[in-house]
Amino acid sequence: MPRRQERADVVEYDRLGGGEVLEVRSRDLAPPGAGEVTVEVITAGINHIDGFIRSGRESGWTDEPWPRRSGSDFAGIITSVGADVGRFSRGDQVVGHLRSGAQATYVTVPAASLVKKPAHLTWEAAGGLFLAGATALDTLDELRIAAGDVVVISAAAGGVGSIEAQVAKHLGATVIGTCGDRNFDYLRQLGIKPIKYGEGIDERIRTAAGGKQVTAMIDNFGQDGRELAEALGVAPARYRSSEDRRATEMRLLQDDGPSIARATALLERLCRLAETRSFTLLVSGYYPLADVAEAYEDLARMHARGKVILGTHPVTTWRTLKARDFFEAAS
Ligand SMILES: NC(=O)c1ccc[n+]([C@@H]2O[C@H](COP(=O)([O-])OP(=O)(O)OC[C@H]3O[C@@H](n4cnc5c(N)ncnc54)[C@H](OP(=O)(O)O)[C@@H]3O)[C@@H](O)[C@H]2O)c1
Repeated sequence: MPRRQERADVVEYDRLGGGEVLEVRSRDLAPPGAGEVTVEVITAGINHIDGFIRSGRESGWTDEPWPRRSGSDFAGIITSVGADVGRFSRGDQVVGHLRSGAQATYVTVPAASLVKKPAHLTWEAAGGLFLAGATALDTLDELRIAAGDVVVISAAAGGVGSIEAQVAKHLGATVIGTCGDRNFDYLRQLGIKPIKYGEGIDERIRTAAGGKQVTAMIDNFGQDGRELAEALGVAPARYRSSEDRRATEMRLLQDDGPSIARATALLERLCRLAETRSFTLLVSGYYPLADVAEAYEDLARMHARGKVILGTHPVTTWRTLKARDFFEAAS
């Protein structure tokens, strides 16, 4: 019988603030109770909403006790299984979600919050799948995106936008995505029509739509919003604002039974879509868990392409020069 893991390194904070309040601390790890498992975390995601919660900008998160933990996406390997867990065994590779506390070396979580990791999905992509992916899928579901739609998606190269854009395309829609010059090639490779954000965007969208009516619009960034959707003639019911996205994310982070089940069902669908390569999650930056504050700084620069990910088993703790920094410094 392997010895039970009793401690975990956990990202915590004691007060509201920026990345500087985050600390990695060694804590007791709860053994799995009935319906629970312990997972060795291999990768964990980071999301803007974690930063909004941490800084106090997100006012709907005041009931959590201190110290608070960070992160809601993770992927890893089950090391210990509690009573009444039928679906999973020790050694299973899983993708999961948590209200907070996913940024850790081990987590003990309800088995109901896990799905099996598709074999070909990389650890890096699996660890960042949950909140961005479930937000994207939920938004596309609400808008009933289907073949024949012409959809405009802002920040289409970012964490949520890149999943939304690829899945909308997979559903048969024509997708116009806003981004900076640096991401034109990336979006074109995905079959998405890139459009530069900023002044004159409405004309560029009409040109890209080639005379077709824009039928839906998702504003991730919070800049080119409702007025643009109106100018393009998008029906109000088929527009989603950045504020709507906030509400979607907050709903996905609730930890009552029905909310966990709903979030897991979305995660299951995301895994199937990833398995069939209906979308690919690009990893924009990969940081050791100890560099969590730096990973959030990277995200806050607002130029991530795909997701920024934390890893608990970095090959080296030396700073990694990312391909995007290398190429962009040279250009
Ligand atoms: N309302 C809320 O509560 C809420 C919740 C979560 C997230 N958000 C916001 O949603 C946005 C996207 O988040 P994310 O996690 O999907 O993305 P992300 O991974 O942070 O990616 C940022 C993306 O935004 C693009 N971008 C930069 N400036 C832009 C602009 N002026 N207009 C349109 N796109 C721009 C970048 O493209 P280039 O590199 O090509 O410029 C980059 O691909 C963030 O601004 C975030 O603050 C809001």
